[in-house]
Amino acid sequence: MDLIKTSEWQTLLAHKTRLDALHLRDLFAQDAQRFSQFSLELDGLLVDYSKQRIDAATLNALLALARHADVPTWRDRMFAGEKINVSENRAVLHTALRHMDTTAFPTQDNNVMPEVHFVRKQMRDIVERVRSGLWRGFKGDAIQNVVNIGIGGSDLGPKLATRALSSLQHPGLHFYYVSNLDSAHLAPLLEKLDPRTTLFIVASKTFTTQETSLNAHTARTWLMAAATEEWAIAKHFIAVTSNTPKALEFGIPAANILHIWDWVGGRYSLWSAVGLSLALAIGMRGFERLLEGAEKMDQHFCQAPLEKNLPVLLALISIWNTNFLGAETTAVLPYNESMRHLPGFLQQLEMESNGKTVSREGEALACRANPIVWGEIGVNGQHAFFQLLHQGGWLIPCDFVVAASSDYPLPGHQAPLLANCLAQSSALAFGKTEAQAKQELAASGLDEIAIAKLLPHKVFAGNQPSTTILMPSLEPYQLGMLLALYEHKVFVQGVVWGINSFDQWGVELGKQLAHSLLPALEGEQANDAQLDTSTRGLIAYFRRYGNN
Ligand code: F6P
Repeated sequence: MDLIKTSEWQTLLAHKTRLDALHLRDLFAQDAQRFSQFSLELDGLLVDYSKQRIDAATLNALLALARHADVPTWRDRMFAGEKINVSENRAVLHTALRHMDTTAFPTQDNNVMPEVHFVRKQMRDIVERVRSGLWRGFKGDAIQNVVNIGIGGSDLGPKLATRALSSLQHPGLHFYYVSNLDSAHLAPLLEKLDPRTTLFIVASKTFTTQETSLNAHTARTWLMAAATEEWAIAKHFIAVTSNTPKALEFGIPAANILHIWDWVGGRYSLWSAVGLSLALAIGMRGFERLLEGAEKMDQHFCQAPLEKNLPVLLALISIWNTNFLGAETTAVLPYNESMRHLPGFLQQLEMESNGKTVSREGEALACRANPIVWGEIGVNGQHAFFQLLHQGGWLIPCDFVVAASSDYPLPGHQAPLLANCLAQSSALAFGKTEAQAKQELAASGLDEIAIAKLLPHKVFAGNQPSTTILMPSLEPYQLGMLLALYEHKVFVQGVVWGINSFDQWGVELGKQLAHSLLPALEGEQANDAQLDTSTRGLIAYFRRYGNN
């Protein structure tokens, strides 16, 4: 039955009408226990969703919707290795990558763990050799620079995590992430690197992605200009891929090829050898701690009752905000500088997974699915777009994410950072009433006329919902929990909306068109007549000014 016709959906619509009359100020005033009722802590990760526009009755109705959508069954099917990615006929088993004990997974009959352990051992070997200086370049030098060449899921996860955990990084190694086709990404880097001490990781599940392929070939040419002998590639290139023949064809020897499986989606691949650059940065033990944190969240997701289940709760709240309160976008606001790549990572995770309008059966969805995800470092955002969050009149739910202790402590910085984070979520929730604003203006000595003039500008509507996620510190275990929390949140949302969250057909059309436009841009006589007039005009401009 159509989701929106279910009694659960209709009940939620009634709750929306009821809650429309209540401000977050009222919800807090009515319930002194609101924080303890609407927050949960798991192994130090505190999730406070008390500033969301829900009450106990609404949450119960949302939980009923999750039961109606059979969330526990779908979750169990995913963990059992069933081929729930129907459009690609694939299982979804990134959870196997963080299955840390020696038992079979997902089942005794379909045990993927021997392969997972094999690749983990390959990773460990590489990590130990590079970090200890045993891995040598073509001139016998130890590696000093690691360049991950990849895009999308083969870039965003390891880039986020390496930056987030940079305080734990090996002091003798530098890490770079190259994704853009624009040579301005790779060229300045190559200018400053020494080929003798540089190791490239070509991370590409398909090994056919244009951006990665072009950057990898340019990097190989750069290396060969210095090394001249083909055998040098083995000293400076590692591939992470499921397409071994293509990696071999590129010239990377089998011993340097780390496998990923079709059951690992690109945006869920940090936990695989796609995380090799991270493991090189923080060591294999650190990488395992990340996996252990993610496994902790997997266990919580599988075992906790729905009403105490963090991914389920965050998913339901997001559905509430999107489908009932009408939010069209959602902001991710990390406050730690080292978490600066979190918004980008979550954009792919959420929007590539659930940015769809058809169900897994191919039918049109009856409601809007994923909102637009965007974000920025919190304090920077405060001095840029927060004005609109406070007084712009848009409903924009926010996720505030912050670690309580600093990874790079300097005296006097951390408390103000936290104060700003907490002040913003509070200001967004409670705002400032006209009476409060008036009182403040009067107290500042203004006369009635001046007060009346300024008053409209000084009122804050508030009622802007947010969730605050606090971690004790930026440690691999905590980060693993956080990212797995978001992964499962996205999965639950997909289940409720009836979406297959693990395919991404929407990115194909642009790739096809780029391929077909290339000859025209490269100067070949193109059959321009087939092109739309806009594209034709833009190509003409490029022919005038562009360089190849
Ligand atoms: O084009 C989208 C996408 O397929 C993502 O899903 C993926 O993470 C990215 O491209 C990179 O793909 P690959 O790892 O195969 O190079």
